[in-house]
Formats: sequence, C-alpha cells, structure tokens
Amino acid sequence: MPPGLEPSERGTVSYFTSSPAETIELGRKMGEVLREGDVVALSGELGTGKTCLTKGLALGLGVPDADDVISPTFTLVNEYVGARFPLYHLDAYRIESIEDFQRAGLDEFFYAGGVAVLEWADKWPALLPAYSIRVTLAIAGESSAGHILRISIEDPPPRLIF
Ligand SMILES: Nc1ncnc2c1ncn2[C@@H]1O[C@H](COP(=O)(O)OP(=O)(O)O)[C@@H](O)[C@H]1O
Ligand SMILES: [Mg+2]
Repeated sequence: MPPGLEPSERGTVSYFTSSPAETIELGRKMGEVLREGDVVALSGELGTGKTCLTKGLALGLGVPDADDVISPTFTLVNEYVGARFPLYHLDAYRIESIEDFQRAGLDEFFYAGGVAVLEWADKWPALLPAYSIRVTLAIAGESSAGHILRISIEDPPPRLIF
C-alpha cells in the first residue's frame, strides 16, 4: 500500500476531460510524478483516449518527441527516451494470450528500469504486477471539442491525486 493512504481512504479517483488537449494535460501531470519501475495499466474500449493519455504521460516524462507517440498496435511496443528514464508503450490488443505476451518478451518491459504503459491491460489482469497503476477510460458524454472522458485511477498513490 502506498504510504500516506489509510485503507479507508482508498478508492477510485475519477478525472473528467472534455477534449484531447485536456486528456494530454492530465497525462502530462501524471507523467511528471511517475517513477522508475511504475507500470501504468490502461483499460477502456477502442477510442477512449488511451493513446492520447499516453502522449501526455510521455510529455510529463520529458520525451522530446511526445507528439509522435502513436499506438503500438502493430509493433507491440514503442520505446521512447524520457528525461529521467525510458517509456515503454505496450499494446495487448493484437495479442491472443498471456503465453504469447510472455513469448514476445513483453512482460520484461515491466521490469526494464523505465515506466511501462500497457493499453488493453484488462485483457489478462493476472499478468499485471500487483503494484500497477490501474487506469480505466470511458466515454461519459459529448462536448463541443470531442468526448467527455471519465479517467479513473483505482486506489491511486497520493502523488496521482491532483
Ligand atoms: N476528451 C478526449 N480525450 C481524448 N481523446 C478524445 C477526447 N475527445 C475526443 N477524442 C478523440 O478520441 C480519439 C481517442 O483515440 P485514442 O487515444 O487513439 O484512443 P484509444 O487508444 O483508447 O483507442 C482521438 O481521435 C481523439 O481525437
Ligand atoms: Mg490506443
């Protein structure tokens, strides 16, 4: 359990964004406080902003070409050089099983000395390290600039409560 949070204080914290720019900004704030070894587990249907949020995480981690962050749907993992440590952006969308994930060596990125962000993380919950930061994205409505997204962090460590 992260220090500073009593069991009774734990729960899900939700943020709402109403444009891609706001999602990137939330990701940037999160990225600024991520630590080496963190695993960010992103869940949510197609088009709920997982890759958009990851762009923000990259910005916050000091990735110089954060605008270039694209979905690793086909490459399975994209590596970005951050200011403090690398960002490994993983995507389980096209992977069929836990065994395939492991055979591809993707689980090693959880322990590779950077921050690992995994899209479609709820496919196999057992795959995730217990300390993973679990984030769920969902469309909660429509705004003039896009969707209103609900971005929920399960039992967030205090540094992710803004
Ligand atoms: N509030 C919002 N936050 C993020 N993206 C939004 C928002 N509203 C609309 N969008 C659009 O939704 C899409 C999200 O795509 P993406 O981040 O690739 O989703 P995913 O990785 O979950 O499939 C983008 O086309 C983006 O422009
Ligand atoms: Mg994506």
